[in-house]
Amino acid sequence: MPGYPALPGGIAYGGDYNPEQWPEEVWREDVRLMREAGVNLVSLGIFNWGLLEPAEGVHDFGRLDRIVDLLDSAGIMIDLATPTSSPPTWFRTAHPGARLVDREGRVIAGGSRHSFCPSSPAYAAASERIAERIAARYAGHPAVAMWHVHNEYGWANARCYCETSAEAFRAWLRERHGDVAALNAAWGTTFWGLAYGSFEEVEPPRIAPAGQLTALQLDYARFSVDAHIANFRRERDAIRRFCDLPVTTNFMIPNCEPMDYWRWAGEVDVVSNDHYLDAGRADNHIELAMAADLTRSVAGGRPWMLMEHSTGAVNWQPRNLAKRPGEMRRNSLAHVARGSDSVLFFQWRASRHGAEKFHSAMLPHAGTDSGLWRDVVALGADLRGLAGVRGSRVEAEVALVWDWESYWALELEWRPSVDLRFRERVEAYYEALWREHVTVDFAHPSADLSAYRMVVVPSSYLLTEAAGKNLRRYVEAGGHLVVSCFSGIVDENDTIHPGAHPGALRDVLGLSVEEFHPLPEGGTVPVGDGDGVGNGDGDGLTGRIWSERVRLAGARAVHAFTGGPDAGHPAVTRHELGAGTAWYVATALDPAPDGTDNGRDLRGLLRPVLDLAGVPRPRDLPDTLELVRRGRHLFLLNHGDEPVTVRGVSGTGVFDGAAHAGSATVPAGGVTVVELAGDT
Ligand code: GAL
Repeated sequence: MPGYPALPGGIAYGGDYNPEQWPEEVWREDVRLMREAGVNLVSLGIFNWGLLEPAEGVHDFGRLDRIVDLLDSAGIMIDLATPTSSPPTWFRTAHPGARLVDREGRVIAGGSRHSFCPSSPAYAAASERIAERIAARYAGHPAVAMWHVHNEYGWANARCYCETSAEAFRAWLRERHGDVAALNAAWGTTFWGLAYGSFEEVEPPRIAPAGQLTALQLDYARFSVDAHIANFRRERDAIRRFCDLPVTTNFMIPNCEPMDYWRWAGEVDVVSNDHYLDAGRADNHIELAMAADLTRSVAGGRPWMLMEHSTGAVNWQPRNLAKRPGEMRRNSLAHVARGSDSVLFFQWRASRHGAEKFHSAMLPHAGTDSGLWRDVVALGADLRGLAGVRGSRVEAEVALVWDWESYWALELEWRPSVDLRFRERVEAYYEALWREHVTVDFAHPSADLSAYRMVVVPSSYLLTEAAGKNLRRYVEAGGHLVVSCFSGIVDENDTIHPGAHPGALRDVLGLSVEEFHPLPEGGTVPVGDGDGVGNGDGDGLTGRIWSERVRLAGARAVHAFTGGPDAGHPAVTRHELGAGTAWYVATALDPAPDGTDNGRDLRGLLRPVLDLAGVPRPRDLPDTLELVRRGRHLFLLNHGDEPVTVRGVSGTGVFDGAAHAGSATVPAGGVTVVELAGDT
């Protein structure tokens, strides 16, 4: 398998380049300015299908040839795209059967990208043909460093509900279930007497009157991922017939819920990701860190590529806030700290036409006499200083369990509470650990967890029996497991595990749940901070969303509910099992915001487990200071308004060459990277 692309200058810097939107004289200015900014890689030709193939089977590569040669002459490497995320208008006219149909049966219009059915044979043939033509023409061109297949699979057409998709789904079901009796058994179709007599009777989960078979919906979600992967493979394999350079496609971790990136991970030579901040969120740098850690985990710990982010505002949020001073630099370096070997943007030059003209770019409409351009040039210089980081790894001692199938299952209709959301619970636990300065990996629940001192399972509603056994083995062998409410309830077909909840985890946790008591909207429940019975003195923790009646069967109560429907019953438990411990949190707890932690929050709850597990971490830093170790480099990112001094740091400052002998001070809003000395 080809590895990471060979690039001059270490960290790849640049972005999507769409020169077709500009007259040729602008291209020359582009490459001059790219060199000024230190750009060494651009993603080229992402939306060029209609230009390269102006009519079906008619090709014109003249413009692309010229731009490829121009970039080559300037020493700028190319991540060459196949343009298949935006089929040409003629394709839509010639192949009406390839149109995207939504769950309500509406045919989705053109005049946009991603407007095609992922299971369409016409799309398969046309996309393979253009990918092959491009690969045949540019394989071996010295400027091409790697291949960028498509753009964001599933971003706007994750699931299609047309008749072609229905047929493809039936074929997929035959493969998965073998015969229709097995499908009926897996889907539990005795419920409401919905048994299928043949695969032909199965319809996609289009809009239904009420309460559709949930296993049907889960299988449709899996099938849809596989349909996109099949499209990717076809193009990737077409490229490989001509070229052995690395092939990627840009993921959208974690903001494209329908794509199961564990399923995708083995398909690409290098994992690449697009990440955009939710500008309105004050803690969006924590969400960024989570996205980067999850991307690194999908990449199996290997370096990955930040394929897109923004220099400033995007154009597609309700209020597109500009980045604050220093924020683009902090964002970029946070991705590098967490394993990215590139900092790439959408896009090089701001567009004048179409839907994205208010999206920021490396070169804004205001041109080079702008703060943004100066920041872009300065970032290029910073990244040259970080060349030594490239290829190094981030080590994590704690893993958070993340499973897209469980994410989907918990989002289906008719769960005990709409307020209990997988992503929300993951973010709460992630944030608590981030504020404790603990770097985490993400892991599939069936993965080998033995390398981690501590594993957190945040509301993993769907857990297979095998995953439950995997977690049990982990604890027995000495691991420390923290499980939050409503985990391990159903199997892969959304069928409740036999017996009392949580069927997949009862024996690991040493308890069962007699009844769920979700709280009314906005409701809270007090949790005692005392000796296992709760003292009701009001200075404990506050649970949200959920309460439940826990029955101990080997575990002991660490905290109890001191009010609400389960007052006097366990809220947090601990079970000694083999050489490890398994903890259970029967409500939704949260970390306190910046600077307000007093131990009576989710952080306070996790601290003793981190200590028991022996997870090393600094104890005296404000929770606005982000600290990540990558190989020999220590990244210190200050998200607060005051300078922070970090002790125990010896080495050389990468950006300023400063000698640090025992400490480093990070300015407010700034980033310090230290190449650590000796054995530190
Ligand atoms: C991405 C997409 C880019 C651009 C960008 C804007 O999802 O890949 O082409 O549209 O969003 O933020």
